[in-house]
Amino acid sequence: MGIIHSLPELLVNQIAAGEVVDRPAAALKELVENSLDAGARSIAVDLVEGGVRRLRVADDGAGIERDDLPLALARFATSKIASLEDLERAATLGFRGEALASIGAVSRMTLVSRRAGERHAWRIGCDGGAVSAIEPAALSAGTTVDVEELYFNTPARRKFLKSEATESARCDEAFSRIVLSQPEVAFSLTSNGRRVSHLPPEDLRGRVARVLGAEFGTAALAIGVESPRLALRGLAAPAGFTRAARDCQYLFVNGRFVRDKVVAHAIGEAYADVLHHDRHPAYVLFIDIDPALVDVNVHPTKSEVRFRDSGAVHQFVFHALARAIAAGDAHASPRAATAATPFMGTGSLALRAAQEPARYEALFATAVVDEAARGAAADAPDETPLLGFALAQLHGVYVLAQNAAGLVLVDMHAAHERIVYEKLKTALDGEGIPTQQLLIPATFAASALEVATAEENPATLGRLGFELAAIAPNALAVRAVPMSLVQADATLLARDVLAEIAEFGASRVIAERQNELLSTMACHAAVRANRVLALAEMNALLREMEATERSDQCNHGRPTWFQVTLGDLDRMFMRGQ
Ligand SMILES: Nc1ncnc2c1ncn2[C@@H]1O[C@H](COP(=O)(O)OP(=O)(O)OP(=O)(O)O)[C@@H](O)[C@H]1O
Ligand SMILES: [Mg+2]
Repeated sequence: MGIIHSLPELLVNQIAAGEVVDRPAAALKELVENSLDAGARSIAVDLVEGGVRRLRVADDGAGIERDDLPLALARFATSKIASLEDLERAATLGFRGEALASIGAVSRMTLVSRRAGERHAWRIGCDGGAVSAIEPAALSAGTTVDVEELYFNTPARRKFLKSEATESARCDEAFSRIVLSQPEVAFSLTSNGRRVSHLPPEDLRGRVARVLGAEFGTAALAIGVESPRLALRGLAAPAGFTRAARDCQYLFVNGRFVRDKVVAHAIGEAYADVLHHDRHPAYVLFIDIDPALVDVNVHPTKSEVRFRDSGAVHQFVFHALARAIAAGDAHASPRAATAATPFMGTGSLALRAAQEPARYEALFATAVVDEAARGAAADAPDETPLLGFALAQLHGVYVLAQNAAGLVLVDMHAAHERIVYEKLKTALDGEGIPTQQLLIPATFAASALEVATAEENPATLGRLGFELAAIAPNALAVRAVPMSLVQADATLLARDVLAEIAEFGASRVIAERQNELLSTMACHAAVRANRVLALAEMNALLREMEATERSDQCNHGRPTWFQVTLGDLDRMFMRGQ
């Protein structure tokens, strides 16, 4: 008899549910996204006990036809796409046809819906995956989904849930992301019968002021830069208005909240010149991009996307934002808007030869170091090291060095970051990152979620080189940090790591997101522009680069150094021509 068999459907659904709805906040997100896809103008969310006991989402959207109700609860049944081509161009928030089935498999769910023109509403239930008969029901319009006893039949999953306060905080965050994405839709939120939020339809600035505070709402610069297939719009803090934490950073791609390292990096670069290193920009930004140019089906919760041409998106965001910040007035000027439009109307996302992008591209192109020149340097009889010896520091940013082939230019921050990163990676792949106890622990005011995350993940934090302790319900102390990062700001470092664990879970952080995390950590430690280095320090940097694998590129894929050969210089001065 064979021993391989397909899993019972219910079990498959439960496994999938673990992926899609791993906690109440995830179910909240799925239900509200359904309401938005149904064209709702008003959405009410009610939570009881952090959504675990009860989570109800009521909308005034298009509703579901009676005969479609069982299908709405079936896996892989959706009204939103019909083919692979549709998937590649999906403009709705949902497209897998799996959210309701997944939630229904692990809760007691009731769905009541009424389409316009129907005499009354219809109800269908789903109790731990068992779908009930359809019955007439009362509802004035739209759809209400009521989810009770989440994970009642999956005790393992239920055990993974955190305290009510933590699950509530996560629901709040999920709610904030959605309400910021759709300011023209009215929302309300209650928790244990108490009204938490009541938002009328408004413009983005109004919604941002209500959700993130009037101060940011008033101060923020309006961003609006368009090209035919890509646009950046939204609100971003002006140079003077920044925050100590990354808690005010919202990025939406085609209406969907996502985390994206490429865009986050472009935004960071745009602020680089105007931001002190321990401050963070605040923004609510929307990238609207031709759906064919972005893959949204990358991650079970759709919280990550893949751009077809991420380099082009990086350029676009960086230039659009940097100009707006530089202009500094309340509206990005129309002139800046057209100049920062480096995209072709149709075809690939090729860069138009706008002056600044072109300069960037030239830099990227020449950064591919001439292998011959490198070989020559390495083989040189006088044993000049590959990257030579330092001559000087240029404008606090670049190190100039002379090697056998000619002149070497090093981006010192990028190079240092790479070195720290590789060290951390080697350590984490081995015994774990060595820690250094801090003589005086760094204490900081922490959110409930940060405190909970620290308390729940001491082992993971330990492996990453941290020791954190809650010293009050809303304060944490950093007792130890990774040894190679002692110079960095311990609080900022800890907060970044906590944010990553809270978002992705400890095991994913170590298994899949290691590189992202380590590069964030490395960035904190790397030497900053404008720090004056002595020649000996510069030479030490060059030697470390030579000893570090993959040190040719920084963690963000930019080159860390490049060579200008004597031949290049001769050509520049037209010698021997
Ligand atoms: N609030 C709602 N109003 C109207 N129709 C709804 C609502 N919620 C669900 N539906 C219908 O039920 C179907 C199934 O919903 P479900 O969330 O399971 O899948 P989906 O939204 O199509 O894809 P995904 O799994 O990516 O969310 C939807 O395609 C839609 O037709
Ligand atoms: Mg859905």
